[in-house]
Parts: sequence; structure tokens; C-alpha cells
Amino acid sequence: MPYAQIEGWGMHLPSRIVPNESFVKMGLDTSDEWISSRTGIEERRLAGHNEATSDMAVKAAHRALRSAEAHASDVDLVIVATCTPDHIMPSTASLVQNRLGARRAGALDLNAACSGFVYALAMGAGQIEANRARRVLVVGADELSLHLDWRDRGTCVLFGDGAGAVLLRAAVEPGILKSTMGSDGSGADLLMIPGGGSRYASNGRNGSNNSGGRYLRMNGAQIFRWATQMMSRAAEEVIHDSGLKADQIDLFIPHQANLRIIESTARRLGLSEDRVFSNVGRYGNTSAASIPIALCEAIASGRVDEGDNLVLTSFGAGLSWAALALRWTVPIEGHPSRWTPIRQTFESRMAAVRSAMRRQQRRVRASLDERFRADGG
Ligand code: ACO
Repeated sequence: MPYAQIEGWGMHLPSRIVPNESFVKMGLDTSDEWISSRTGIEERRLAGHNEATSDMAVKAAHRALRSAEAHASDVDLVIVATCTPDHIMPSTASLVQNRLGARRAGALDLNAACSGFVYALAMGAGQIEANRARRVLVVGADELSLHLDWRDRGTCVLFGDGAGAVLLRAAVEPGILKSTMGSDGSGADLLMIPGGGSRYASNGRNGSNNSGGRYLRMNGAQIFRWATQMMSRAAEEVIHDSGLKADQIDLFIPHQANLRIIESTARRLGLSEDRVFSNVGRYGNTSAASIPIALCEAIASGRVDEGDNLVLTSFGAGLSWAALALRWTVPIEGHPSRWTPIRQTFESRMAAVRSAMRRQQRRVRASLDERFRADGG
């Protein structure tokens, strides 16, 4: 049975930085002191007006391919974990696949809210272990800022936008060790964006065209209580199933929602501060992107070495949760050749040309069919 290993990683954050003080300036009844002491968040990044989820996802994916020195055409499957897709359909993953030029790849979106990336990593690894794919690109990307009610101080201060990606490859040694996924839909109402789907359709068919339906609503206190227990329980499960002991965990990378949740989980697991990664202060909760962004920053800051055991744990709307234990197997030092970015630019341009040609071919075929029918053929 092949194993799955992470061979490439990359992230993208929008350039617009919004510090806590901005909410005070907007007239919200809050303060930098309240936000930072209750959440650990000091600032977040928000996507620009023309920046969609797929735009951020493509940039993160390009970097992941670049760090692995891999070609987009080597990828068998693209999974984009997101709850803020560009459109209801097609999938954001198809848009990413097209722009990367991953022409052999299947593509799908996975929605498990903030747990999405760990879910997607487990599913991608499963495809490799079942011998159905050799390379899987797993992206976590979200733009929750589009669904924030900027008058609701209980939610709008918590979230940010971004994307992160990893490239999985088939290997003879294990990288991904064990994973667990869970859901408890009895808590669906605790964290929800009610509108935009079939329950509260925008045409009012199912009884509501209420514009408030597009905003994220949350019972923060209940989510907080549940998350502090669930994160440690899920992490303990994968640590145990991997045959590891807590003291063999080199780095714990939890979902970055609230520093108090992270610290409480680390305490329950008996992990000292130096074995826990957090960057929630700079980015807030970036939903499905939070763990891959944290992984990339942990690598960049020298906190991941070959042979390290890592545990990733996430929680989110659903309610949903997931955890995954992995062994880091690739050298961090390897710098991509200086030709790689040039080759990638060339490949992206070629992908755009091929995509435009296929579109044009379809148009020509459709107009020939129409003429043929009009001629009574
Ligand atoms: N500024 C000032 N006061 C605030 C703010 C704010 N930004 N937000 C809430 N408050 C007020 C509340 O209105 C409340 O006032 P009241 O007592 O007069 O009613 C008071 O602060 C205390 O509210 P609590 O909810 O008890 O505050 P708490 O310490 O629990 O912190 C928080 C709130 C930060 C939301 C916390 O509950 C939390 O982080 N929960 C988890 C949320 C989370 O992680 N969600 C993401 C899930 S992942 C996904 O799938 C998207």
C-alpha cells in the first residue's frame, strides 16, 4: 500500500491589513483591548474587491507546486476546502484546476467549514493510499469577510481571508499517519450562514429572501465551550492511533480561531508553549485556510524539521471537527531552482491559452450545430 506524504506547501494572504483599531474607527462598540485579550487577534487580512476565493487558492497552489518542483500536469486530483466558493457551481476546485493547467486532474470542493482543510487532507491521503492517485493538491481557501455583518461586534472582529495549500505524493514511507473526522449536526444552528442555499432561497421560494441570511451568525460562547473539549479529544485520538505519546509530538498546529481555545487545548494535551504554533494574532480566523497558513509559517520560521511528528486539529460549523497526525518527511532546505518560477509562469500562460482555445472550439462547434439544424440537417 502506498503512503501519502506532503511534498510541497504554499500560502497566500491578501495585502490589506485591518488592525483592531479599525473597528473602533468604524463606530463599533469595541476596543483593541477587548479583542486582543478575548481572542488573541490583533489584525487580519481582507481580500480586495476583485479578489475571489479561487484567486487566493491559485496563488497558494502555485507556491505549493513550486516548493515541490512539481508540474501542474502531474496532479491527479485537486480538492479545495472552502465554505465561500466563487459560485454555487461550478466548484472552485475546477476553476483552480483550469488556471493551474492541471489537465489530468479531477477537481472537487469540500465544505466542512473551518475543519475543511484537515478533512480534505485526510481524503486526499486516502485516495493515494487506495492507489487511485499519485499526487493530490489540497487547498484550504476562504473569504468569510464577504459574509460578515460589520455591525455585529461578536463576529466581524474574528475572521480574515486567505489560502494555503499542500501537495501530497505517493511514497513508500508513511507521512500522513492517522486521521479522524467527526460531525454533530445537532449543533448546526450554533454557527451558520443561513442564506444562499435551498433552505432560504434568494427567490423567496422557501419562505425567505431576507438579506440578513447571507451573514454569518454564531453563538460564540457555546462554540467556545465545545471547541476547547473537542480539539483535545480529537488530537488525543490521532496521537493514540498513531502509536505516539504526547511527548513525541514535536509541533501541534491547531485551527487558529481564538488564542484562549488554543492555549486551553494545549494545556489539556500537556504540551508546552514551544510545541504549539499560533499566528491567530496576525490573521484572525481564516477558516479552512488557517491550518495550511499556520503550517507554512511554522516551516518558514524553522519550527518543522525532517522526522518531526506534527498534529493538526480543527473545528468548525457543522458542527464538525478533524485531526490528523503526520511525520514530516521532506527536507525544508531544498530551494526550488531559479527556473521553476519562470517555468510556472510559462505553464500558467499555456494553461490560459489552452483553456481559451477549448472555449473557442466549443463556441465554433455550437454555432456549426445551430447552422446545421437551421439548414434542416
Ligand atoms: N467587543 C466588545 N464586546 C464584545 C465584543 C467585541 N468585539 N463581542 C462580544 N462582546 C460582548 C458581548 O456582547 C457580551 O456582552 P454582554 O455581556 O453585555 O452580553 C460580552 O462581550 C461577553 O461575551 P461573551 O460571548 O461571553 O465573550 P467571550 O469571552 O466568550 O468571547 C468570543 C466571545 C470571542 C466570540 C468567544 O466566545 C469565541 O471565540 N468563541 C468561539 C468562536 C469561534 O471560534 N468561531 C469560529 C468557529 S470556526 C468556523 O467554522 C467558521
